[in-house]
Amino acid sequence: MFVRSYLSKVAKNVVSSANYATKISKPEIPKNPLSSIYTAANQKENGVVYDKKPFRLNLEAGKTYHWCLCGRSKSQPLCDGTHKDIYLKVTQRPVRFTVEKSKEYWLCNCKQTKNRPFCDGTHKQKEIQEAGTVRL
Ligand code: FES
Repeated sequence: MFVRSYLSKVAKNVVSSANYATKISKPEIPKNPLSSIYTAANQKENGVVYDKKPFRLNLEAGKTYHWCLCGRSKSQPLCDGTHKDIYLKVTQRPVRFTVEKSKEYWLCNCKQTKNRPFCDGTHKQKEIQEAGTVRL
């Protein structure tokens, strides 16, 4: 009898002192510190869908990168100068960007993100998943 009541009290204490984490932390959304300097980050038109999922890349803090917006580079997700080919008549320009911390980032490969050059989940939309891709 004594043992049962003791165990009951212990069980209540364990349950009441348990620390439950109910909030799931949201992933950090990176920003391009150069977007206010170079207007190419504000181009209205998006490029063609290159791929329907983002690409993870290890980036160094402070280094300047050029993200392909036109979707025709062969070095995706970065620019290789293909947009300069006059026969392709590409109107988009690459987006210069940098990062504040050296780590892995998910770069947009569907070219439809609203947070250039980082993936914002836009590729999950039905229209993008059903769109054709352009690979040269
Ligand atoms: S790959 Fe473009 S928004 Fe995710």
